[in-house]
Amino acid sequence: GAPVKADISKLEPGQMVVVEWRGKPVYVVRRTQEQITGLKELGQYLKDPESSGSDQPEYVDVATRSIRPEYMVLVGLCTHLGCAPKHHPEVGVPDLGGKSWLGGFFCPCHGSRFDLAGRVYQGSPASQNLIVPPYSFEGDSVLVIG
Ligand code: FES
Repeated sequence: GAPVKADISKLEPGQMVVVEWRGKPVYVVRRTQEQITGLKELGQYLKDPESSGSDQPEYVDVATRSIRPEYMVLVGLCTHLGCAPKHHPEVGVPDLGGKSWLGGFFCPCHGSRFDLAGRVYQGSPASQNLIVPPYSFEGDSVLVIG
């Protein structure tokens, strides 16, 4: 299929948009500086912190799973059985892990939890991190998926 372009110039820090690509939802979050820093503190709570067993393009950075740390780009389908995880940007939610929850995604089907780089938390039924699709940027404002 053809690549899909999305204008991300209006996306505010902390916000998410969903872009459809090949019939799948792609979640795009503009991460705040705090959220980017937080990703480095979560390793001990995650199943695959380095994404060694997870699906992502070679050109993304290991720590943020992205090309530009500010932009998270993930296929919004749970790697357990394919439900759509919900965005929970709020920090410290007791039911989602308390202090270890710095915002991320919660799958309502069987309770998998993912951080803001799509990395799966320990205790989740899913074992792999959310998939990072192939993507690139055109200038500052256009995201190209595919
Ligand atoms: Fe997400 Fe099962 S489909 S936890």
